[in-house]
Amino acid sequence: MPDASATESMLTETRRFAPPADFAAQAHVKSMAEYEKLHARSIAEPEAFWSEVANELHWFKPWDAVLEWNLPDAKWFVGAQTNLCYNCIDRQIDAGLGDKVAIVWEGEAVGPDGPEILRLTYADLLERVSRFANVLKSKGVKKGDVVTIYMGMVPELAVAMLACARIGAVHSIIFGGFSAQAIRDRVEDGKSKLLVTCDGSWRRGKVVPLKANVDEALAMTDRVKDVIVFNRCGVAGTDQAPMVAGRDHDWATLVDGADPTCPAEPMDSEDLLFILYTSGSTGKPKGIMHTTGGYMVHTYMTSKLTFDLKADDPDELYWCTADLGWITGHSYIIYGLLPNRCATLMFEGGPNHPAPDRFWDIVERHKVTKFYTAPTAIRAFMKWGDEHPERHDLSSLKVLGTVGEPINPEAWVWYHETIGGGRCPIVDTWWQTETGGHMLTPLPGATTTTPGSCCRPMLGIDMAVVNSDGEEVPHNTGGILVCRKPWPGMLRGIYGDRERFVETYWSKVPGMYCPADGARIDPDGNFWITGRIDDVIVVAGHNLGTMEVESALVSHPAVAEAAVVGFPHDVKGTGVAAFVITQGELPEPGSDAAEQMKKDLVAHCGKELGPIAKPDQVRLTTALPKTRSGKIMRRLLRDIAAGNEITSDVSTLEDKGIVEKLQEG
Ligand code: WTA
Repeated sequence: MPDASATESMLTETRRFAPPADFAAQAHVKSMAEYEKLHARSIAEPEAFWSEVANELHWFKPWDAVLEWNLPDAKWFVGAQTNLCYNCIDRQIDAGLGDKVAIVWEGEAVGPDGPEILRLTYADLLERVSRFANVLKSKGVKKGDVVTIYMGMVPELAVAMLACARIGAVHSIIFGGFSAQAIRDRVEDGKSKLLVTCDGSWRRGKVVPLKANVDEALAMTDRVKDVIVFNRCGVAGTDQAPMVAGRDHDWATLVDGADPTCPAEPMDSEDLLFILYTSGSTGKPKGIMHTTGGYMVHTYMTSKLTFDLKADDPDELYWCTADLGWITGHSYIIYGLLPNRCATLMFEGGPNHPAPDRFWDIVERHKVTKFYTAPTAIRAFMKWGDEHPERHDLSSLKVLGTVGEPINPEAWVWYHETIGGGRCPIVDTWWQTETGGHMLTPLPGATTTTPGSCCRPMLGIDMAVVNSDGEEVPHNTGGILVCRKPWPGMLRGIYGDRERFVETYWSKVPGMYCPADGARIDPDGNFWITGRIDDVIVVAGHNLGTMEVESALVSHPAVAEAAVVGFPHDVKGTGVAAFVITQGELPEPGSDAAEQMKKDLVAHCGKELGPIAKPDQVRLTTALPKTRSGKIMRRLLRDIAAGNEITSDVSTLEDKGIVEKLQEG
């Protein structure tokens, strides 16, 4: 259940920020009264509502029915045919916008003439995507085949995903920060025969060895027959990234020889578009499945409304700082944006390279209008100091978004004042990999916002806070966040695991989708997320299953048993704390041997799972606090990790002395 103390502290937040009148006057949704009317109608007549949105897009064949709902299975736009790549690119060209910029890309390195910048028009994008689609076909990729993509933030990553969508291949994109083991597991789970990667990616001036990670992964599986390597860092074919004869192919050579035209394949609305893995409460990540038509309609509409995108404003330039390897990148860099005919910016590097003002430098030079980032990044910017944003003209900004984790009111207010100049509405968007797109969010021209609250349900979305019987709880009472009705962008399942799909999302509250977040609704009707109610922790905006980290730890020879919990962290939101029972004798607390072992374990988690999973705290111990029935008392571990006074009832503990030992550990 959500933590009562968190709820109390949030109740003290009373500041209200109304949308500026001149902004509201121009917005798609102009007032709370208008939002309420639209929302009520979208819930009362969902089929009429969603078909009107869908009609703004291109379909090869119209639907026979808007929705077929057999809980927990939804089919949207049943019988219709469309293609998401067509809607991202061709539809704009058909409308005479071939020369309009679709993607603005900026490389990380800053040379004497500034950074490398590429502006791709819809026509450029069509040619690049078509060529690569033909390359995929030439390698035997067919409709329904899973293509694994593991690349840095280069335009070719967007091209590869769109090429898959164009021919009906299913992409499975793996974030470039993941390790070889994660690649191997995903390749196996998706039974993927083709993998697209880069020799490396640039991160703070250094080469991240993507190809080497792929080679290590593919040594553990023989599933993949072809690897296409984009030579980004110039190390492909050298010792750093050797090419395996017969298996590895150079991207540029293949693309140069490919036909520049490739018609978009008419896809059934319910054909699988992609799988994307997210952490769950067990050790194994879940391959979340998204299909074509509904996901397209949901991401299109939410992009338009949440960011108040204006297709006919030539200055509109939207920038989401996420990596394409996460759902935020999928939905809100490419798939929701391009069909809105708004230019989307992709940045290759990190926020502090070459200096901590890099993001603000980008905003100023490109005149970014809509900006979307994570609370963790905002907290880091606050730490780095106001002088960095203050050095730049940020007056082009109109809407600021945040995503991925709760934003603390202090960071919210800083974002509003220091980045937004007090003038830009803030949209705190709550959603998940599973929901495909936004579920709770302010609408920038309509909603009076309160820092820390993600405000109201999106149009067409029926969210509530309930008890375990599905009954709504009173205002300001913590409960379970649910969605009571199907929505177009909802996940269609977990790849290859029907039972887990039903169990994870549809068994906690009868008849409703349960995202495993706790929440409350304040008397104004605004939603407040109070935290996860399962064993997933959200670290720097990224989901991490505590069991995944535990499994990584016990795979180290020095570890007998491990328990992992989250604790409040001032930049990452939540940090990772590991309690480890060592194999054999426990090194003396504070000794060099103990410190070395902790360092080794942190590095081991980084290697097994990727840098995100590195524990911030490791405590070595001879035992874990367990109840007499053998359950680890996680709440107690959370208190110890946070340095809190112990409030848990320890009377059921087997070994009562353990608490003190752990606090020292
Ligand atoms: C958390 C990211 C509070 C939440 C799009 C959710 C948030 C999980 C917010 C999904 C927010 C996401 N306020 N918490 N605005 N946005 N979360 O799948 O716990 O990476 O269940 O999707 O992040 O993370 P995922």
